[in-house]
Formats: sequence, structure tokens, C-alpha cells
Amino acid sequence: MRVLHVGAEIHPFVKTGGLADVIGALPAALRRCGADARVLLPGLPALLAVQREARRVGTVQPPWQAHGGARAELLEGTLDAPTLADVPVILLRHDALYARAGTPYGDGSGHAFIDNHRRFALLGLAASRLAEGLDAQWAPDVVHGHDWHAGLACAYLAFARRAAKSRAASVFTIHNLAFQGLFTRGDFNELGLPPEAWSLEGLEFHGQLSFMKAALHYADRITTVSPTYAREIQGVELGSGLDGLLRGRSAHVSGVLNGVDDAVWDPAADASIAARFGVRRMAGKAACKAALQDECGLEVRDSAPLFSAVSRLTEQKGLQLVVEVVDELVARGGQLVVLGSGDAALEAAFRAAAARHPRQVTLRQGYDEALSHRVFAGSDVTLVPSRFEPCGLTQMYALRYGSLPLVRRTGGLADTVVDCTIEDLADGRATGFMFERFEADDLRRALRRAFTLWRRPREWRAVRQRGMEQHFGWDEAARRYLALYEQALATIA
Ligand code: ADP
Ligand code: GLC
Repeated sequence: MRVLHVGAEIHPFVKTGGLADVIGALPAALRRCGADARVLLPGLPALLAVQREARRVGTVQPPWQAHGGARAELLEGTLDAPTLADVPVILLRHDALYARAGTPYGDGSGHAFIDNHRRFALLGLAASRLAEGLDAQWAPDVVHGHDWHAGLACAYLAFARRAAKSRAASVFTIHNLAFQGLFTRGDFNELGLPPEAWSLEGLEFHGQLSFMKAALHYADRITTVSPTYAREIQGVELGSGLDGLLRGRSAHVSGVLNGVDDAVWDPAADASIAARFGVRRMAGKAACKAALQDECGLEVRDSAPLFSAVSRLTEQKGLQLVVEVVDELVARGGQLVVLGSGDAALEAAFRAAAARHPRQVTLRQGYDEALSHRVFAGSDVTLVPSRFEPCGLTQMYALRYGSLPLVRRTGGLADTVVDCTIEDLADGRATGFMFERFEADDLRRALRRAFTLWRRPREWRAVRQRGMEQHFGWDEAARRYLALYEQALATIA
């Protein structure tokens, strides 16, 4: 089975969120299961700089007139990271489109690039060209796109198939339905798609061009990153206007939970934490906690439950609820470390809380991969109070590092954490804390459960151990995707 993954980020080189972790781990897991998985990414400077032994695969002609009609070049090689050593990565090089500073999507200060429709249409077109046999040495059986950035791959491929130019199937994974890639009718006219694509039964969405809708309409199979989110997006509340389309395709919509990459997230082998630890030797965890308290200027006190959050500070993540309860958290004897950046008002609110409680609360503003490991390793509880959460990776990393997740019951959070209710404690199932409604009072009650359990160290340790023993493996996800690829191919054969 030859599978081409198409996306915009890859850990450890280009990352704005969990999408990068997934594209950095899933293809390797598929290869371990015997599939020939490869990855297609835009030729961003940070990727071209680390690609080794690049082979020139061919060129792709953009359908528009801009850039003097310059062609893009496809280069296949491996990226210089141990976790990716075995994964062929194809970069789409077109410097006028991709050789820019910033994130894959914009200038880094909140402004999207104005030609994103071209930048990501070309990515989709290149995927389709590969499925049409552009490279004599390798063509995918399945094109697997991730998020709206790869949405047009499904559309271009559908039309290539109608013209009998390809027999590849498409699978599309929604990592976040809230980001849809919306552009104008004029933008659509540049993309070389047949006029019939501009329709309700195509990629038109309320008069706009929607890359996400293109994927949801044309993909042979649609997945998202947890079973609960797969249900939620078929309802009005989290369907972002596409719930009707998703309901109509519900036989082809499913949820496959993300995994944890053991090569990156393993407290027994993690070089970036103060001391290694594991279920059977927990002393290192206490050392990590003391080191984190010290590093963050907090009072070094083992008896204080140390809460943490590692997160983009955006509306989605719900951390405004934490702002509302932080004083109570401190009054009950807890401490808080927040690592993240984003919304200026939230940053200011956490800075103000840190100023009120300098030895108990701290905000580490910014993005710091190594520090994120130290935070999971050193904290006792990881807060993920999201409004919605397609999968969420930090609660799974927290579980692995012995930090009990305290989460809202939504999306993948609901699928990966079991609340410390009396009955689930008694049954030996509980792994963390959960609350229902997006309200500070609900979060407060979950916090009180956390403090109550904290005062029962033996039970705390049992819950922690159970959490550390949870296995969210990529191999399981890879097997599910492989079965789905077979199904998709069978239906189009
Ligand atoms: P999302 O993709 O919605 O942001 P996920 O939980 O799926 O949420 O993934 C977030 C990823 O980004 C995780 O790998 C998390 O550790 C990482 N991360 C988030 N904020 C930071 C930060 N400030 N510093 C380092 N890593 C971060
Ligand atoms: C998105 C979602 C997050 C998910 C990640 C990886 O960024 O917000 O919940 O874990 O994609 O699938």
C-alpha cells in the first residue's frame, strides 16, 4: 500500500500545533506496519534546509499566470531528524510562494499570506499529479490529506479520476473544523478547476471558496482525530456550518484517535527533563517537580499540588476559565505554571495572576519545546479546559508523564481521560478529572476533586500509575488507517 500524506507542518521542524506531531509520527507508524507511506509538504525554508540526498522527482505547472508561469519542483529525500530517518519526504519547491519568514500560513503576527489560495492549491495539485503518475518511480494508491491546507488535493484528484488519469483514493483528516481556508470566487478562477466545481455540490460555501468543503465533498473517506469529535461535528454546535454535509456523508465519516510518539514522549528516556522516571521508579518525578518549581521561581514545596497548562492561548483552549479560578487554586494551596502564548488579554491576565502570587503562579510566555517536556514531567495536574478539542495531545502527554489531566468533557478529551468519580475510583478506572459545562463553577468542582484526591496520596499514586500505563499508540491508529485505505480503494475500484 503506497500512501501519500499531504500537510503543512511536521515535527520537529515546522510546528504550530498538534498537526505537526501527527504528520511527524503517523507516516513512520504506517511504515512500521508495512505500508510505503511518504509525505508531501510545501518547500518551506526550514524544511529545504534539512532535506538530505534530494532526488528531483519532476515539476508541476501552476494553473495561474502569476510568477511568470514559473514551475514548481518536487524534491524527495529524508529530513534530518532521528524520528523521520525512515520516511521519504517530498518538498514542493517554489520560492516565490514558499520562501518566506513566518509560519506556514502567515507572517507570524496574525496576518495570513494573501496568496494562500495559491500556496495551498499548488500543494493539492502536486499531490494529484503524483497520483497521476508524475514520478515514474513511485505513485500513491491513496492520497491522505490533513486539514484545509490539503483540501484541494481531494478535488484535483476527483477530477483526475473522472478523466481516467488516476486510480488513487483519497482520505481526508479533519484536525480542526474551525479553520476552513475560505477565499473568494475570483481566487477560485485561478485554480484551474472545472467550472462545475463552483457549486453547492462542490467547493462553494455561502458564496466563498472553501478548501475544507472541497475536502469534505470530494474525499472518498473523511476522518477526524477522535470518535467523540466525529460525532460532535455532525451537530450544529461544533459543525461550523458544515454539519449538514457531514451528516449526509456520515457513512464515510469516522474518528481515529491520535497516538503518542514514544520516540519523543517517554519519561524513562527523555533527555530534556531533570531526572528520568517510570511507573516502577517514581523518584525522578519528584526531582523534576522541584527542578520545575525552582526554574519557574515558585516556592519549592513537594506538598503543593503543581497545576500546569501547555497551550496556545486562544479561545478554543478555554484557559479564561483558569483565570477565573486561579485565586481559589492558590488559596487551596496549589501552584500554577502556564506555558503558552497567543491572545494578549489572556497573557495579561496570567501575568496579573503571577504578580498577585509571585511564588505560586507563573506564566512562561512563548513556545518552548524542551520546557514543555519539563512542565509535563514536573507538574501534578495538567489543565485542558477546552471549549472544543478535536483530539488534544497534551492530556495524553500529561498521562504519560504522571501529570493527571483535568479536562472538559469534549472531543478527544472525553475519549482519553476517565474522571475520578467515586465509582470509577472504586473500579480502578479513573485517570484524571473531568467537568461538563464550560463554566468556572464546573471547573471549580473538578479542582476540588483534584485537591481531595491530593490529600489521599495512596489513591493519587494509584490513579497516576494507571494514567502512565495507558497506551495511546500510533501503531493502533496506523492499523485503523490502513483498514480505511483498503475500504476506500475497494469502493472506487
Ligand atoms: P492544538 O494542535 O490544538 O494546539 P494539541 O494538544 O493537539 O492542540 O497539540 C498542541 C501541541 O503543541 C502539543 O505538542 C503541545 O505540547 C505543543 N505546545 C502548545 N503550546 C506550546 C508551547 N507554548 N511550548 C511548547 N509546546 C507547545
Ligand atoms: C488540532 C486540534 C487538536 C488535535 C490536533 C492534532 O490542532 O486542535 O485537538 O490534537 O489537531 O490532530
